[in-house]
Amino acid sequence: MNQPISLSVDQGVALIRIDNPPVNALSPEVINGLEVAIDRAASDPSVQAIVVIGAGRTFVAGADIKGLEQVAWGSDSGAPEIHELLQKLEDTSKPVVMAMHGTALGGGLELAMAGHYRVAVPDGQMGQPEVNLGIIPGAEGTQRLPRLVGLEKAIEMCVSGRPIKAADALNAGLIDRIIEGDLATGASAFAREMAARAGSHPKTRERQDKLPSASQLPGMLEAGRDLARKTRRNLQAPVAVVDALEAAATLPFAEGCAREREIFFELAKSEQAKALIHAFFAERGVSKVPGISKDTVAAPVNHVGIVGAGTMGGGIAMACANAGIDVRITDASPDGLDRGIATMRKNYDVSVKRGRFTPAMVAERMARITPQLDYEGFGEADLVIEAVFENMALKKDIARAVASSYEASKGDGVIATNTSTLDIDEIAAASGHPSKVVGLHFFSPANVMRLVEIVRGKATSPETLATAQAVAKRLGKVGVVVGNCPGFVGNRMMFPYMYEAQFLVEEGATPQQVDAALTGFGMAMGMFAVDDMAGLDVAWRVRQELKQFSEPGARKPLVADRLCEMGRFGQKTGKGWYVYGDDRKPQPDPEVLALIEQLAVAHGITRRSFTNDEIIERTIYALINEGARVLEEGFALRAADIDVIYTNGYGFPAWRGGPMFYADRVGLKNIYERVSAFHQELGARWAPAPLLAQLAKEGTTFKELDKRRASSLVGASS
Ligand code: 3HC
Repeated sequence: MNQPISLSVDQGVALIRIDNPPVNALSPEVINGLEVAIDRAASDPSVQAIVVIGAGRTFVAGADIKGLEQVAWGSDSGAPEIHELLQKLEDTSKPVVMAMHGTALGGGLELAMAGHYRVAVPDGQMGQPEVNLGIIPGAEGTQRLPRLVGLEKAIEMCVSGRPIKAADALNAGLIDRIIEGDLATGASAFAREMAARAGSHPKTRERQDKLPSASQLPGMLEAGRDLARKTRRNLQAPVAVVDALEAAATLPFAEGCAREREIFFELAKSEQAKALIHAFFAERGVSKVPGISKDTVAAPVNHVGIVGAGTMGGGIAMACANAGIDVRITDASPDGLDRGIATMRKNYDVSVKRGRFTPAMVAERMARITPQLDYEGFGEADLVIEAVFENMALKKDIARAVASSYEASKGDGVIATNTSTLDIDEIAAASGHPSKVVGLHFFSPANVMRLVEIVRGKATSPETLATAQAVAKRLGKVGVVVGNCPGFVGNRMMFPYMYEAQFLVEEGATPQQVDAALTGFGMAMGMFAVDDMAGLDVAWRVRQELKQFSEPGARKPLVADRLCEMGRFGQKTGKGWYVYGDDRKPQPDPEVLALIEQLAVAHGITRRSFTNDEIIERTIYALINEGARVLEEGFALRAADIDVIYTNGYGFPAWRGGPMFYADRVGLKNIYERVSAFHQELGARWAPAPLLAQLAKEGTTFKELDKRRASSLVGASS
């Protein structure tokens, strides 16, 4: 028998265990091994029933996505060949019970649905998340799921890609029993019960009872396609999965499976699948960092101190409280502290209204947050996060004060700064304990946004860094380690992008046209809407603090400073690039359009119209060119890290993979040529990054570069 599958027989039950760490993915060895094990169990006269169970942390979490990646890039051999196994399972005369714990996802759930019965532990989860990879279920899931849970529920699960919990699954008919206590024991007892029953065991593929009638079908399909278009904007797979599910209701099982396979392969080779699979592995790659190994000890973090109860401090406090961490939060003024606490309470109330939390959950979280006006207890914290506004002198003072608290109580916690642009090393030096200092750059709202840039200073110790990585993970965030340069990776790249958007309006486009082009490209929001949301004063303060951001190349943007001088700070003042009514929707403001034109004309700028393609090239290519510099200078470890930063923190569409992956797909030679042309036309700020020039000349990609560099990271892991 093949290695990842083991078979043991106990009191008439064959227990087939899948052991293919880390997540028991359906590799060819697993599939072959299962076939052999089923044959053996079926022909063993001492076996009355069969239980299939996963070893380790989970049941099967899906097909092997590495194999799917091969399919995406042109080879058919990576797709799981699973039809024969599923048919064999279903046709076995002895009852087959699938025993699920952890996450039964994708091909894992499809495997389970071919069993006659399914049981799960109370916290088990089941789902078809394939759409998140740009594909649809490809192992008959679209044909079996609606037969078990009905078409409406199947549409909801397949379109959203969200797993459901065991209780919901039981209710929907996806599983037959929840097993409390030891799963193998409970599942075996259940299997014996089923073996003792008279008659044959249910084959999912033969069931019709939950499928909709001809009159119900059109409404369900329309609602499903509507859901896909509204909730999964720009994604192809969620719409296509409804087509495959429709086949379950209109075609015989085998023909439905053929239809599913056809759609699966079409999507598996699509640009979106390439990009989303890239995004999946990119996100899992960020924890691999030189100097950090499995042996690097991260300190446990259960008590956090936060300095500054503004928007960022409050959001970070909520993120910590949500993760079960006790928080002490301090602010320089009693009013600031009160306002901060009131805002947290208001945000939690919204979560209750939306059904995300119960009032009891909110009470529990608020009880974890202690507001105070001093540093009492900070010396015993495991981590203190400073989250005040961008002012170097203030941040240094706080670093010194936090270090003194630790010294006074012989504490040894980490000192983190939530600066978004400033020099970590300068702050670290001021603290007197530079090895304990790290940047934790959260994104607003910090209790919602998944990204944290973890800024490694030149003296940050491996343990401090590992602690920061562990905290990010505990908060449910994706922590990307970046180097210490002005703006780090995300904001450093954003400034040229933002300025290019501003230059475009000076040259004749309008803010709404630029924003529409960017959202049409797939960005979550346009640049001007983002600036209004973040507050124009934020970038204004950065421009004052950091001269390199105030004047890109020889050209200074004309409008942003003027808007700030007029008190137009964006949404919070009701006016910025746009004007805002009660609905907080941006409306074009003739006053701003007139100001832009007046300033442009006064500075002799020739105005003309722009196509959306020109707007995308000017803005997105500026982002890519700066990304290449960041990479070349070593402030990002991998191009893929930049992609994770931009898809998780800046609203770049994951279905385009991230800016660097997008650049690969456009072709680095093409990007380089356009950047060079802009350099000629628009001047020094467009000088092509040497790395971009080099890769374009070599005819290679950022992804290839990452692969080449990966060898230097061997041995490092999360
Ligand atoms: N195939 C290959 N590797 C996988 C995998 C899969 N299906 N799922 C997870 N992994 C790997 C990760 O790459 C990571 O590897 P690394 O340690 O070398 O970086 C490791 O398993 C652990 O993964 P996470 O860090 O994500 O661990 P978590 O505990 O945070 O999450 C999980 C576990 C919920 C299973 C999460 O990994 C996940 O959501 N995986 C993807 C599930 C999925 O999309 N399944 C469907 C696949 S497509 C399919 O089945 C097609 C079918 O219809 C034919």
